[in-house]
Amino acid sequence: MEYAITDREFEQFRSLVYEESGIKLDGGKKTLLVSRLSKRLRELKLDSFQAYYDRVTAERGGDEFVRMLDCVSTNKTDFFREPKHFDFLRDQILPSLQATKQMRIWSSASSSGEEPYTIAMTLYDGVVSPAQWDFKILASDISTKVLAKAAEGVYDEERLRDMPAESVRRHFLRSKAGGRYKVKPHLANMVSFRRLNLMDERYPIKTPLDLIFCRNVMIYFDRETQGDLMRKFYRYLKPGGYLFIGHSESLQWVEHEFAYVAPTIYRKEA
Ligand SMILES: C[S@@+](CC[C@H](N)C(=O)[O-])C[C@H]1O[C@@H](n2cnc3c(N)ncnc32)[C@H](O)[C@@H]1O
Repeated sequence: MEYAITDREFEQFRSLVYEESGIKLDGGKKTLLVSRLSKRLRELKLDSFQAYYDRVTAERGGDEFVRMLDCVSTNKTDFFREPKHFDFLRDQILPSLQATKQMRIWSSASSSGEEPYTIAMTLYDGVVSPAQWDFKILASDISTKVLAKAAEGVYDEERLRDMPAESVRRHFLRSKAGGRYKVKPHLANMVSFRRLNLMDERYPIKTPLDLIFCRNVMIYFDRETQGDLMRKFYRYLKPGGYLFIGHSESLQWVEHEFAYVAPTIYRKEA
């Protein structure tokens, strides 16, 4: 059973989601909101969206608040999604760091882990002796649900379908029963996970970054929020560091200081 939502209740959720996550739910998202949150209302035995709103806002940032955000965020992702970015990383960026053999990367809307693990595979396979390199990838997301999945690092066979069999063998362990694959420790050790909201003014990142991936999330933000994000990313990148955005996203109408490198690839000039 699905619950009915009034226009006022939808408005309440819409501003709450926007204030906290920057995600804009337009009128067309009403059905999506109702279907995703109805399950939660049932589980909590609540009889209206107003009652659920009161529960969620009773503790801003509390467990139910986080669960509500989990329900409304769109987490679609894939291994090697938008592969040109990984070609660029392997062919243009990695060779330039040969002298220091060190790289700090942030996958800032990592969803269930496919993106940070793809970065890890690209780095691992892109150098001659990975053990001599110091690679650290921070993977973060606002959704605790997807982060738990990412940290577990276990995927159904069909998620790896488009990867060459040799890569799968090198980087994943197949479950005994088959059908499930777990990332091997050499990849898992390169990635750390934490919940982080891109709307926060400061991020808990101390070392300047070589790369930031912020792909397929800005599309849900308005232009002003995108501009704020660009200002913060610029601050956290090293001079010479790169920013990757999603292929359907653009900085054309957004205020920013980055230099354009290639479609959806930007650089903080050295
Ligand atoms: C469509 S996925 C993109 C995943 C991956 N970057 C890719 O391109 O395949 C968008 C992710 O952004 C996350 N997200 C949405 N708002 C966020 C925010 N304010 N801070 C951090 N992550 C957010 C969602 O939870 C979701 O996992």
